[in-house]
Amino acid sequence: MQIKAPRGTYDILPDEAVKWQWMEQVLRETAERFGYREIRTPMFEHTELFHRGVGESTDIVTKEMYTFLDKSQRSLTLRPEGTASCARALIEHSLYNGTLPIKWYYIGPMFRYDRPQTGRYRQFHQFGIEAFGSRSPYLDAEVLFLLVEILKGLGLPAYELHLNSVGCSQCREEYRRKLIEHITPVKDRLCADCQVRYLQNPLRVLDCKEKSCHQAIADHPTLIDSLCDDCRDHYTLVQKALRDNGIEFVHDDNLVRGLDYYTNTAFEIHIPGIGAQSAVGGGGRYDGLVESCGGPSLPGIGFALGLERLLLALDKYKGVPPAEKQVNVFVAVMQDHLEDRAAALLYRLRQQGIAADKDYNQRSSRAQMKLADKLGAKYVILLGEDEVKGGFVTVRDMKTKEQRKVDQEGLIPFLQERLDNC
Ligand code: HAM
Repeated sequence: MQIKAPRGTYDILPDEAVKWQWMEQVLRETAERFGYREIRTPMFEHTELFHRGVGESTDIVTKEMYTFLDKSQRSLTLRPEGTASCARALIEHSLYNGTLPIKWYYIGPMFRYDRPQTGRYRQFHQFGIEAFGSRSPYLDAEVLFLLVEILKGLGLPAYELHLNSVGCSQCREEYRRKLIEHITPVKDRLCADCQVRYLQNPLRVLDCKEKSCHQAIADHPTLIDSLCDDCRDHYTLVQKALRDNGIEFVHDDNLVRGLDYYTNTAFEIHIPGIGAQSAVGGGGRYDGLVESCGGPSLPGIGFALGLERLLLALDKYKGVPPAEKQVNVFVAVMQDHLEDRAAALLYRLRQQGIAADKDYNQRSSRAQMKLADKLGAKYVILLGEDEVKGGFVTVRDMKTKEQRKVDQEGLIPFLQERLDNC
């Protein structure tokens, strides 16, 4: 039986990888311009971190985690997201005692056991940012400016930013009560999942994908009407900062997000036309997360973008700039017994910073030229008996097809000068 990549995973082959490299460069540059620095956390964590951080009643924790016992019977989980790991790292290294806010970004694979489809995988990649240590609404605004700046940097023209406030723990408790009261009389009209979860987590009914649930609770009370004064003021200032800076958004009463740690500002970014999985990113405040992971009371806010979904959007709307060709110079060997000289020359070119390659399959001269062309070589160095005897090489300009003799000594500067002017 042929062994294939596990369901919901895939290979990124070199032609695709160049798109990823370009995209990752835009993400890194933009985050760094906003003062965020990279953090790398392990790909697996103690399972308890996600129970405490992401929340016991979430789909991620109840259904989607890759959890296993290691040889010492410890329960470990492949990270389903990055925020809880960042909170754990911040606590573990006592960084809350240093200068705040702490601003981090990360890029890497995440793992969720979900039904694979276009834009949804079991191993997928996120770019995320997290800022810990300030409740300022202007930090919320900064995070949203950064999100929009990234989409602009990638050249994605169409997106919808949905925004809501899910309040603090007090106003949310009040809202939960109201919502349960509202849902109870119509509970039989809910989908099977919501019938089970509405008592424990009634907010999830708001963002259920089933039409029947939406219809059943159509005139539900809104979160925004239950906010306390502090939370309302905070949300007002975030919205004002966005408007003042020309960032378009829609207030969305049904936006509650699928992870339990959110407080106050919550948002999602959708790109139309990329299929059912149109949410390319989401995030919000999580002022209680650090504490629930065992640290001090320290507010935070962040978001994550799904890189596969961003690529779907790039493929649909704009494409990715063509990648640099693989090599600049190709060494073509005219006689087999000169292979050792060609190998030495190739090594010398590479040591001098010139991207170069050669054939290793005893191709004919013509086939070597074809290979040079395929690899994108701008110059081919021809190495034959005459060249070796005369202490020179023949350099062929692949564009003009011109050939000229260049002595061995002067070869590197000759190539460097021409490549610099390409
Ligand atoms: P999330 O909404 O679960 O949030 O995921 C963020 C993004 O990751 C989604 O919008 C989507 O683009 C992508 N994504 C999620 N699951 C999959 C999947 N199975 N396949 C492909 N892409 C997927 C979080 O993960 C939060 N940690 C975001 C955050 C950071 N909140 C505050 N800080």
